[in-house]
Amino acid sequence: MDLISHAAAVRLNAHAPYSGFKVGAALISTGGALHLGCNVENVAYPEGTCAEAGAIAAMVAAGDSRIAEIAVIADSPAPVPPCGGCRQKLAEFAGGDVVVTMATTAGATLRMTVAELLPGRFDASFMDSAAPGGA
Ligand code: THU
Repeated sequence: MDLISHAAAVRLNAHAPYSGFKVGAALISTGGALHLGCNVENVAYPEGTCAEAGAIAAMVAAGDSRIAEIAVIADSPAPVPPCGGCRQKLAEFAGGDVVVTMATTAGATLRMTVAELLPGRFDASFMDSAAPGGA
């Protein structure tokens, strides 16, 4: 099964009673393992989590730390783009050249890299002169 098909399958498990918008994400780690996530909403709306965040959490919990490739799918009119927060989360665990495949359940796809999705990303190099614990 390809990555989009895995994302489509896990999407069906999404808990999205408030938006009605189910999202699935499937990623392959650099170690070659498959990790899946779906959006999990909450009646206290800000407490919900995105599909990409779920897949990343599953990857980290399994002991992997780098993303090689990721696919995201939803029943949307155009391939579903990761939200701003998820772009930063992807950038934490993926190089700029990592491909993000966005897809619709109808079969449309769009491929962009992490760098294209989050130009000018904030990374640890900006904290080089910071002194943790200091003033
Ligand atoms: N959502 C995701 O899970 N991933 C995205 O890339 C876009 C948005 C979820 C969050 C919320 O549960 C629902 O879609 C509507 O915003």
